[in-house]
Amino acid sequence: MCGIIGVCTRVDKKLNTGDVVYKGLLRLEYRGYDSAGVASVEQGVLRVLKGKGKIADLEKRLGLSRVRGSVVIGHTRWATHGAPSDVNAHPHTDCTGTIAIVHNGIIENYRELKEELARRGHVFKSETDTEVVVHLIEEFYKSGDRPYDAFKKAVSMIRGSYAILVVFASAPNTIFFAKKDSPLVIGLGDAANFVASDIPAVLEYTRRVITLRDGWVGFVTGDSVFIEELGKGPVNPMEYVRVVEWSLESASKGGYSHFMLKEIHEQPRALVDTLYGLSSDPTLREASKVMAEARRVFITAAGTSYHATLHFAAALAKIAGALATPFVASEYEAYLPVVREGDVLIAVSQSGETMDTLKAARAFKERGAKLIAVSNVVDSAIPRESDIALYTRAGPEIGVAATKTFTTQALLLSFLALDYALLRGAILKSEYDEYARELSRASDLAAKSIAWSEGLAKKVSEMLRLKQSVYYLSRGVGLPTAMEGALKIKEIAYIHAEAYPAGESKHGPIALVEEGFPVVFVVPRDAYYEKVLLGNIQEMKARGAWIIGVAPEDTSLGEQFDVFFRVPSSHWLTTPITHTPPMQLLAYYTSTLKGLDPDKPRNLAKTVTVE
Ligand code: AGP
Repeated sequence: MCGIIGVCTRVDKKLNTGDVVYKGLLRLEYRGYDSAGVASVEQGVLRVLKGKGKIADLEKRLGLSRVRGSVVIGHTRWATHGAPSDVNAHPHTDCTGTIAIVHNGIIENYRELKEELARRGHVFKSETDTEVVVHLIEEFYKSGDRPYDAFKKAVSMIRGSYAILVVFASAPNTIFFAKKDSPLVIGLGDAANFVASDIPAVLEYTRRVITLRDGWVGFVTGDSVFIEELGKGPVNPMEYVRVVEWSLESASKGGYSHFMLKEIHEQPRALVDTLYGLSSDPTLREASKVMAEARRVFITAAGTSYHATLHFAAALAKIAGALATPFVASEYEAYLPVVREGDVLIAVSQSGETMDTLKAARAFKERGAKLIAVSNVVDSAIPRESDIALYTRAGPEIGVAATKTFTTQALLLSFLALDYALLRGAILKSEYDEYARELSRASDLAAKSIAWSEGLAKKVSEMLRLKQSVYYLSRGVGLPTAMEGALKIKEIAYIHAEAYPAGESKHGPIALVEEGFPVVFVVPRDAYYEKVLLGNIQEMKARGAWIIGVAPEDTSLGEQFDVFFRVPSSHWLTTPITHTPPMQLLAYYTSTLKGLDPDKPRNLAKTVTVE
């Protein structure tokens, strides 16, 4: 989704603000965008440079980094209202060209406001919902309000979701901000203050951040921050300052050709860190207690995180003998009628900002359910609004395709299932210890899985890149992992993929299978599944399918595969950790071989902050 960055320098310090914002925009690229731009206030004059296309191309064409001034704001746009174009790119300006705005989110009542403003003589240049806001500010400002008052009045009239930055030519040392439902953080630096959509955009300059809450408005100057809750009064910013652990290195490519490849290789480290975090965190037990006291447990998420919730539901059933209901977050309405006090919703979101998941969490909370969040971003919206927050420690994930956040989610949720089972007396302590021993090998298992499959993934991708379609099949505990494999190849290699329980083939999908049709079999370590999958492999082979197996090194099915991705032999509970890396690598190399950019797949955004 759109990205925002703003910098405001201290008057006594020298900082190349154009460069800061340009680099910030590059760090926001991963969120997904189609156009970009900057606005600066230089000696009382507002200057805007913007256009459709890649930031590096815009830099060549317009010289984004060459702007100067005490304040500069920048934006990457992911089109919602109005096609990607030079004119629809942010920043947008008012009629006088002295106020500029950048915005992430959707202004729901923009049509009414636009009609009214047009009646009052305002001339709109773009088709965006955002432009309405800057004209509204202009309306108050020209009637005599001071910049901040005009800004606040305008914000109080808009409905929808927004993270907004505004600069005035007449307030050359100030950035005004407002936040509701779209993420925004303030970075407190020595030579300047920053406002951005996410932490990686400001990590080069500071690790001291304030995560803004919904309903907050205010302004930053080079050496001060003012925040208030709209309609309620001032907030003490210092109470909300925290120092983040992420390093700048963790948010850069560090020698890898893409973030995705780096993040695949970071999985062993991310798993160790998550394990370490869990070992000293009493919150896991608190979450188990809340689950144990619950009437019913629901689990929700989107995309990759949803696949982690399916693994969790399977683990709860098999280990704790408990039935939980997982559902895709955007479908929450269907479950709402049965939700009551005493229920629990576990909301899983690596970013903690996915709008579908946030909406589901809010709706459940409103009906009296307790919330448990699982996220990778401390203080993000979903954990903030939850009763209990559990965190994976994967570090920042920049590639749009989730990799290390998935395997760490699977690890954390497996531990939660185990702890819950122990608490409920479904397993003995000795059994718990046995499972936990398997899970504590996660880092080593992922490292082996990556090392064993990388060369083969490169080779297989040469053939796979020529295919139109591919099936990812498994059964039971392997199915969530197969679904994740299919999502990866779709997202970044643009190959149609479908994951389904292997037993379903003969009920329809096998009709598509012909000579050379690729079918990936995800084989969990379990004698029962090996037995039933053998039949499913043979029915595909009989029709000429190209069989790619992802299976434990000691599987009995090795000879059935045309391509065999060996993964370390371990407990079925670690299937997402052992079996996903080969499929991540296969998707990555297929994507790069096709000349695509796996970090920024078309039409996708890292964090989906709209419904
Ligand atoms: C995964 O590769 C995708 N980028 C996407 O499906 C993602 O998992 C989904 O949008 C949910 O994101 P979240 O974990 O931040 O909530």
